[in-house]
Amino acid sequence: MKAKPRSLLAIESLDSRQILDILALARRMNPARPRTTLRGRRIALLFYENSTRTRTSFEIAAKSLGASTVVIHATTASIEKGESLKDTGRTLQSIVDAIVMRHPSSGAPMLLSRLIEIPIINAGDGMHAHPSQGLLDAFTILNHKKSLKGLKIVTIGDIFHSRVARSDAHLFSKLGARVVFCGPDVLLPNTATELAPGVEIVRDMETALKGADVVMMLRVQQERLQGMQINVDEYIRRYQLTASRLKLAKKDAIVMHPGPMIRGMEMTDEVADCKQSVVLEQVLNGVKVRMAILQTILGGRR
Ligand code: NCD
Repeated sequence: MKAKPRSLLAIESLDSRQILDILALARRMNPARPRTTLRGRRIALLFYENSTRTRTSFEIAAKSLGASTVVIHATTASIEKGESLKDTGRTLQSIVDAIVMRHPSSGAPMLLSRLIEIPIINAGDGMHAHPSQGLLDAFTILNHKKSLKGLKIVTIGDIFHSRVARSDAHLFSKLGARVVFCGPDVLLPNTATELAPGVEIVRDMETALKGADVVMMLRVQQERLQGMQINVDEYIRRYQLTASRLKLAKKDAIVMHPGPMIRGMEMTDEVADCKQSVVLEQVLNGVKVRMAILQTILGGRR
């Protein structure tokens, strides 16, 4: 049996057993029934990039386990004064037990984890990884489907810039799902295997949706386009999830979105609020899964 992970940097370093253990623990977690298992532990939330959902849910998760938190925004801390990532990490290490970190550069949490001793939990790094989102997405799917084995999971939108797409793809294919990506050419990687093993690219949205069990919609990441021009009308015409397109998926297909969702762009209001949409459930599940992640990494005897 593999040891408990020391840090959570990317899905690739977890085996299926560790993933299923975290998901099973998340099933027993409920922020409405707080625990005290991490009482006395201090967790720093070090955010170099904006976040609403991820930061709040890590914070609620930590507090629901009895830990205390300190939120550090890059704009307010001495990071602005030019302190290096290494110095910030070393300073935090002497006063906290773990760091939850979001950074615009891919690989920043991995770098920091090599420089300091305390666990690092990656809350999103550049275009690379967002492992807690991958875990909460899998958890949400498992609330509706018996297993991921054999499911057709279609992700549509800005795949190229999406750390969510990468972490989801690694996790879903580890658990046996068929992962299909769809989007405009400029928002797709050159080859599917650049993203994760076993992923297919289907360029036509109608074809991609056919027989899907899960439809995951992604936002066009305007902040990462770097001059790339996206014609919004054309995007909507070819890639927006409408009620009639959703009918191509299986009858019991669920619709997901990691947020923030731009209504009227990725999907219509009608789809966003339909019975098949589990977008709000993803948010609550985010807290449960992050409780399980923190408990796994910080819990038990040390
Ligand atoms: C995603 C992110 O930040 O990578 N959002 C999230 O964590 N809920 C996706 C996005 O920003 O579009």
